[in-house]
Amino acid sequence: MSEGIHIRLEMLTGAAQPDGVQTATESFAANELYSPTLSRGAQRGTFFLETFGCQMNEHDSEKVAGVLLARGYKQVKTPEAANLILYNTCSIREKAAQKVFSRLGAYRDALGNANGEQQKIGVLGCVAQQEGEKIFSRAPWVSLVCGSASYRNLPQMLARVEAGEERVTGLDNDTEETFETEVTRRDNPWRAYITIIEGCDKACAYCVVPFTRGPERSRDSARVLAELRSLADLGYTEVQFLGQTVNSYADPSPRKMRFSELLTEAAQVPGIRRVRFTTSHPRDFTPDIIEAIDAHPALCNHVHLPVQSGSSRVLRAMQRTYSRAEYLEKIAMIRGAKRKIAVTTDIIVGFPGETEEEFEQTLSLLDEVKYEGVFSFKYSPRPNTPATSMPDAIPEEEKSRRLAVLLEKQRAIQMDELSRMHGDIVEVHVDGKSKKENHWYGHSSCNRVVNFSSTATDILGQYVPVRVSGCTPNSMLGEYAAAL
Ligand code: 5AD
Ligand code: SF4
Repeated sequence: MSEGIHIRLEMLTGAAQPDGVQTATESFAANELYSPTLSRGAQRGTFFLETFGCQMNEHDSEKVAGVLLARGYKQVKTPEAANLILYNTCSIREKAAQKVFSRLGAYRDALGNANGEQQKIGVLGCVAQQEGEKIFSRAPWVSLVCGSASYRNLPQMLARVEAGEERVTGLDNDTEETFETEVTRRDNPWRAYITIIEGCDKACAYCVVPFTRGPERSRDSARVLAELRSLADLGYTEVQFLGQTVNSYADPSPRKMRFSELLTEAAQVPGIRRVRFTTSHPRDFTPDIIEAIDAHPALCNHVHLPVQSGSSRVLRAMQRTYSRAEYLEKIAMIRGAKRKIAVTTDIIVGFPGETEEEFEQTLSLLDEVKYEGVFSFKYSPRPNTPATSMPDAIPEEEKSRRLAVLLEKQRAIQMDELSRMHGDIVEVHVDGKSKKENHWYGHSSCNRVVNFSSTATDILGQYVPVRVSGCTPNSMLGEYAAAL
């Protein structure tokens, strides 16, 4: 038992963060600090859920929370107050995966839970799927290990944990079904995630996702649209369609709705003001998607289109299925839209064998595309992926150098692009009030964070016009503009 220790709650800021730009790779930002009180008096039927990783993980956690609330559990803000501690993990890069065991150890120490009598600890998500039963050997105080492809069986697994079973696992790669739940507990009252496709079939040489999340399974379009309509009825105005490869959506129902048709239908649901989607794979990014955005203002003017490298040789080694030139054709198509569409991307530096010249091709791609935001990462070898056994690993210091060069270049590009917006009026969906008096923040349709001043008192969740008056590399500054 270790009374009085402090644990930092950390949130991985990863590629799928909604806020445009990742300025440092592998950055873990503490978002809360708390002092645990010991667990002895923990109430029965309470759960604490901590989430690392991408939006898919965040949304999975919302669904898991929904399942638990429907079973009569109460959600609490600290692990000490919980009977059940769930930890939704990310394994996209090594650092995130390494965190898991130190965090599990910290839970055990803080809770005095070495025998597992008081609290039950469950590991969910990608590390659970990847490490499987090995988690029990390294952390015997864990009672449940459940991978993301098995969440739909979670209620049954939880019942077994509650009944005192010591090692419950859900590690199937459930290829038939998606995680359907009517009871999702969403964190934000205006903006909602909707999964439309789970898993990934693309087999990029560096990526664990096909192993941790299984093959692609798309949801029936009628179910997606029914969920969207019920969200609109509840007052949600902005939705984000989610999928590792969202635009590879393949409607399994007889309607066989294309992704662009699903977007078109979604854009016309009464009450829905904004529809976003992430992440798109360049290979499946077809002109009909841009035609849909052109035709429907509710489809946001933002596309996240990961390129990963500016070198065709590296792209081939990565098994990305497109060349630099083919990717640039997609960009030209997007830039040809009637509205200006912001494009963001993901880039990996230091992939095995990446030469200086190939890295410079990535830099020149940044100049050519002028992305509105870039999430950049040092290549991190992942278990089972073909890239881990590729020769010519790039030394860590060199990866760091390349990353710093890339970030600096992109920073300058963004400052330049954003400063051009000075004087523009953008529509902002208001997310919250900042600490500074009469200051608010929200998102533009192009998914930029906008910090603005307004003396209004009741604009939370609303769409307001803001005149842009300045910028930082990652956000716009402005003031409320009385009329559009
Ligand atoms: N190393 C570094 N970055 C990775 N990504 C995926 N796998 C790895 C890896 N092994 C990045 C890619 C992807 C984003 C979600 O994470 O850029 O688009
Ligand atoms: Fe990973 Fe590639 Fe699938 Fe994206 S498309 S999840 S990078 S395998």
